[in-house]
Amino acid sequence: MLRPPGQGHGNGYHHHQPQQHQQNGGGGGPLIHKHRRGNRGRRSRFDYGDGSSSTRVSVSDGEDTRPPPPPCTDFDMAYFHSYAHLGIHEEMIKDRVRTETYRAAIMHHQQSIAGKVVLDVGCGTGILSIFCAQAGAKRVYAVDASDIAVQANEVVRANKLSETVIVLHGRIEDVEIDEEVDVIISEWMGYMLLYESMLGSIITARDRWLKPGGLILPSDATLYIAPITQPDRYSESIEFWRNVYGIDMSAMLPLAKQCAFEEPSVETISGENVLTWPHVVSSLVFSFSQVKHVDCYTITREELESVTTRFKFKSMMRAPFHGFAFWFDVEFTSPEIFSNNNQPSSVIESPNEHPTNGSQRKKRANPNEALVLSTAPEDPPTHWQQTLIYFYDPIEVEQDQQIEGAVTLSQSKENPRFMNIHLEYASGGRSFVKESVMR
Ligand SMILES: C[S@@+](CC[C@H](N)C(=O)[O-])C[C@H]1O[C@@H](n2cnc3c(N)ncnc32)[C@H](O)[C@@H]1O
Repeated sequence: MLRPPGQGHGNGYHHHQPQQHQQNGGGGGPLIHKHRRGNRGRRSRFDYGDGSSSTRVSVSDGEDTRPPPPPCTDFDMAYFHSYAHLGIHEEMIKDRVRTETYRAAIMHHQQSIAGKVVLDVGCGTGILSIFCAQAGAKRVYAVDASDIAVQANEVVRANKLSETVIVLHGRIEDVEIDEEVDVIISEWMGYMLLYESMLGSIITARDRWLKPGGLILPSDATLYIAPITQPDRYSESIEFWRNVYGIDMSAMLPLAKQCAFEEPSVETISGENVLTWPHVVSSLVFSFSQVKHVDCYTITREELESVTTRFKFKSMMRAPFHGFAFWFDVEFTSPEIFSNNNQPSSVIESPNEHPTNGSQRKKRANPNEALVLSTAPEDPPTHWQQTLIYFYDPIEVEQDQQIEGAVTLSQSKENPRFMNIHLEYASGGRSFVKESVMR
């Protein structure tokens, strides 16, 4: 997920005074500076990049009885425009954890891909489509609404794959593909997993073209939340003002807290300065909670609009509690394995009364030896890093002190690609509310 540089500090919601963090603590991290997806510029129409694809693909001629696709808003246009920038694709491709895990997943599922029809939703430069062609796909529809599709077409041509990979320059919601597909592949994950709201487009593609029993890569995704301690960051941004070249600038503290912690912050945290790993004893260690498990085979667009879960943690040591971290992982599992899991719902909340620890999470993340792409703090870093929600003021917690509350993630009414984060939490007899917007 990308954010446009320099867009707002405020979240447009509650702004609580930093000093009053007892009730309705407010807060948030500094504006995210890594922009995977922005909202700049616009395109006036959608068209296909390569005439060679026209025998298999056509623009809807109006005879379709399906409900019309959701309108392509100015926000969407700006979003697609941001993906026309090379830098975004370079950053993603250079993220070797990401790209190599996708390639490994494609090779892992080669038997399901060789000789089959694949749909790459949001192909970007075409890299995943080409991996699928290399794995023996009979045909790959590579769809992207961004102008990067023009380059993807060139890359496909230069690699002599035009017979196999058909680049469609258009929104997945608008293109027509005249056959069902065996496999859908997409790299759709945003910061905090759901930011950017691209998953809805995968659902559209799944419901329109995936054959029964077809493969979706990745197959499922899980978002996690955990309390964190991050004294270095707090000190750098806040304590700094107490003594600036010998001058007491404490008067800056309220503003510093607001600027530093108002919005979510994308940072890389490690086991040393964060929590959750029972073996990391040099820092605050909490148990962590799973927020959502999304089964890509069954999730609906409606289920994505708002997700809520309750959490309960027990601090494993005395430490300043600075906020919460979110991260996710995705798995690449075939539908047969899924059906063996007897999972009743596409969105599974964690058992809040039984917070899990790191080792339990590992088991859950890989119950069938599925390939996992993890953005967890203890795993090799990715361009997603972790997303942190800081409090204006830390809470001093004792060992075994309970931290409980609830988090709601919902699509912003302002722009569905933005995400509202509503956090309620209580510890040591005090309760807090924090509203932030990931924009
Ligand atoms: C995160 S990038 C992934 C690019 C490429 N698949 C890769 O792995 O390097 C997502 C891409 O999906 C495209 N995209 C997002 N929503 C789309 C939609 N509804 N229709 C077509 N393309 C879409 C974006 O323009 C962007 O290029």
